[in-house]
Amino acid sequence: MNSDEMKVLAGRTAADALVKSGMKLGLGTGSTAVHVINRVGELLAMGALKDIAVFPTSFQSLMDCEKWKIPVFTLNAPELSGGLDLTIDGADEVDGENRCVKGGGGALLVEKIAAYASSSYALVADERKFVRSLGVSFPVPVEVVPEARLSAARSLAALGGEAVLRAALRKAGPVITEHGNLILDVRFKEGADPVFFEEEINRIPGVVENGFFTKIRPVLYAARRDGTIETRK
Ligand code: 5RP
Repeated sequence: MNSDEMKVLAGRTAADALVKSGMKLGLGTGSTAVHVINRVGELLAMGALKDIAVFPTSFQSLMDCEKWKIPVFTLNAPELSGGLDLTIDGADEVDGENRCVKGGGGALLVEKIAAYASSSYALVADERKFVRSLGVSFPVPVEVVPEARLSAARSLAALGGEAVLRAALRKAGPVITEHGNLILDVRFKEGADPVFFEEEINRIPGVVENGFFTKIRPVLYAARRDGTIETRK
């Protein structure tokens, strides 16, 4: 299978296995998570799924939900009241304990709010995302308020992380997040402890959130090149 086929397989398999009628559902962002949204949309259109309330984690996932007329709500709406039964999202890297790095699409802040507000959490990925050590080959996104661009980068360097300001494509200057912030992409050294760094990075003044996700253990649906799915808890 090529990588697009693996993304479709992972997204559809997870949606079929996990999404049930009546759920409050967080739906993630990215080129794999979109296939979860597409499958949820199909199941709703077929009448196989009913009465779900969805919280999309970005403009991208909101627009994908709108295409299918999936009922979307803010997390604060009475239909969700700040809690979700299940969130399914993609990942940039996943380690052997299903801890992950997210935020390649810049949506880490709301993705983490959804993940940590969910009773259960699932990741959809393909085997190319498996790593031994998080944050080494794929840098960890850190969302910072604009005023902290340099001071936060200095503090991250003191922690051993090398920060690069994420530049926009087809716009001059940096990426501006959906919350008006900047993203520092930070590379760590092999063996950096993601549990420690998830806590520690957020202590830096001006940091809004970071892309280490270690506090909720997802079930992982990872597609393999041979067309099989590995489900790992
Ligand atoms: C967006 C994310 C995505 O889930 C992550 O970047 C994976 O995306 P893709 O499935 O396109 O590789 O965290 O902020």
